[in-house]
Amino acid sequence: MLCVLTRTAARTALVKPCRLPTPVPVVQISDRSLVHQESLPKLPVPPLKQTCARYMGSLEPLICEEEMAHTQQLMKEFLQPGGVGERLQKSLERRARKTENWLSDWWMQSAYLDSRMPVAMYTSPGVVLPKMHFQDRQGQMRFAAKLIAGVLDFKNMIDSETLPVEYLGGKPLCMDQYYQVLSSCRIPGPKRDTVMNHAIGKSPPTHITVVHNFQFFVLDVYNSDGSPLTVDQIYVQLEKIWNTSLQTNKEPVGILTSNHRNTWGKAYNNLIKDKTNKDSVRAIQKSIFTVCLDAPKPRVSDEMYHNKVAAQMLHGGGSRWNSGNRWFDKTLQFIIGEDGSCGLTYEHAAAEGPPIVFLVDHVVDYMRRNEMVRTPMIPLPMPLKLRFNITPEIKKDIEKAKQNMNIMVHELDVRVLNFSHYGRKFPRSHKLSPDAFIQMALQLAYYRMYQMCCPTYESASLRMFKLGRTEAIRSTTTESLQFTQAMDDPSKTNGEKAALLEKATKVHREHTHMAIHGQAIERHILGLKMVAIEDLTSLPEIFMDTSFAVSSHFNLFTSQVGSKTDCVMCFGPMVPDGYGVCYNPMDDHINFAVTAFNSCEETNATKLSKFLEDALLDMKTLLEQVSKA
Ligand code: COA
Repeated sequence: MLCVLTRTAARTALVKPCRLPTPVPVVQISDRSLVHQESLPKLPVPPLKQTCARYMGSLEPLICEEEMAHTQQLMKEFLQPGGVGERLQKSLERRARKTENWLSDWWMQSAYLDSRMPVAMYTSPGVVLPKMHFQDRQGQMRFAAKLIAGVLDFKNMIDSETLPVEYLGGKPLCMDQYYQVLSSCRIPGPKRDTVMNHAIGKSPPTHITVVHNFQFFVLDVYNSDGSPLTVDQIYVQLEKIWNTSLQTNKEPVGILTSNHRNTWGKAYNNLIKDKTNKDSVRAIQKSIFTVCLDAPKPRVSDEMYHNKVAAQMLHGGGSRWNSGNRWFDKTLQFIIGEDGSCGLTYEHAAAEGPPIVFLVDHVVDYMRRNEMVRTPMIPLPMPLKLRFNITPEIKKDIEKAKQNMNIMVHELDVRVLNFSHYGRKFPRSHKLSPDAFIQMALQLAYYRMYQMCCPTYESASLRMFKLGRTEAIRSTTTESLQFTQAMDDPSKTNGEKAALLEKATKVHREHTHMAIHGQAIERHILGLKMVAIEDLTSLPEIFMDTSFAVSSHFNLFTSQVGSKTDCVMCFGPMVPDGYGVCYNPMDDHINFAVTAFNSCEETNATKLSKFLEDALLDMKTLLEQVSKA
């Protein structure tokens, strides 16, 4: 998460980052590399015994003694000298020596491209921006024009390789993801998808796509001299698009992209059999990014407004509303509603949240500037409307996709909690890590709701390493459980509770340190498993054990995505009976987005948000009382 990283490091340097050859299966376009990228260290393979010991430790709060004893036995066998563990570790170390990053291709495949679940809601996050002050079409067009100009300004930094290198804990970070987010698109495949990046090809695109009333347009955003269109020019072009897409009875071809990947893969092959359709699809895929001009949504109370906008960003609200006004495979889609709602959704395979929110921060800064730019007087051509020939079979696929989307929309509960009582300054004033403090509040909220703790995943950056993506911090620890149990225990004094909170946050901070330095357990275990799948005929028992399944069933799937902009990212839960929780800790308040599936009787996003708010307030009271005493 970039903004967090920016804040954490608070230092940037104008060093030219490089464009690296992108790992397979992202289609490789360029092999240019620059000094910064080349100087990044390779992701290490942690010592086997260290990971195994830490894995056993992570099971302690989650499984019973009997299971623990069984797993200990399996672990002993796995770690026998000259045994299967050592063999897998050696194989993994060999791979690490031979590749730029032993994990990145495997991660890309297993986390994203092999997944057959719909990208909408299941993997693509949304970002909710604060409500803007426009209430009509002109305002919407004006805002969209400025936003497009802002993204082009950001693109200029990428093209001229003047993007500031980010730092975390004083170490420079891999900037590769920034080169993957523009001009790229996911393509469905029969078993595995790919991501196509057109940014560095022979003829990089000069157009964006705009979608309004389900109709897609190609909007060329550069003048013939190569200068980007000015805000006024873009505004005029958007007006033309708007005026030629007033009919609302068009087939929402874009909704096909929201389907299960196998279903969409088949429908895709069928769709692009027709030459016109194929050209239209290619134009969308190749475009720099997409702008969705959304139809107004039904009015809701102020309290519900942010929940509705988060849902709009995640899935568009259903086939009657804006779900067809998307191309969910497109890496970057900015969404602007007539009622002042705005944000974006992005396809996750290409990048993590941090580069996306960094881009958002840049665009927001750009839009605040009131620069007068002289607009060339040359008349611009009409943006090209993309045509689709809808055969009865395609129509059937669209109908199926609509039904599926409407089921998904009913399935997801999204709650945005603007916690306004304090922000990250408060835990810091008590010498506690803000991120660890929030994670402990989540632990407390969950424990109070269920009288038990659950496996919890927090994303951590691996961008200190070349082509690094993410690791996981297992936030539920023996120490976090001791704190949550003590919190409502009348036999414990406030001093004891505060000491347990401090200890739990310290342990969390240590785990964070290990994770960002490539020493956590999750990806190492994945690597050993992948080697086992490639090298052995059967998986070692340690990976088929109940403890393994239980501890990787992340009921709380969480991430901090901090930014300068007062926004919040949102994503769906990882498991059917779990929650997705994303948060943006600002100085004096914290934005949370909590999701859960409605079909699961045990989960309730509103209830967890309420417990979270209470947990944060109680933890503040506790620290204040102890300080006073
Ligand atoms: N006392 C006072 N201050 C403290 C402290 C303490 N005990 N512990 C930490 N702090 C400070 C830190 O130094 C830091 O200060 P800075 O911003 O001036 O550098 C600040 O508090 C925030 O630190 P903390 O809250 O501990 O965590 P973090 O901001 O480093 O974030 C992660 C932790 C795990 C979120 C971050 O390392 C990370 O990996 N982010 C990427 C997540 C990601 O990729 N998500 C993908 C989503 S798709």
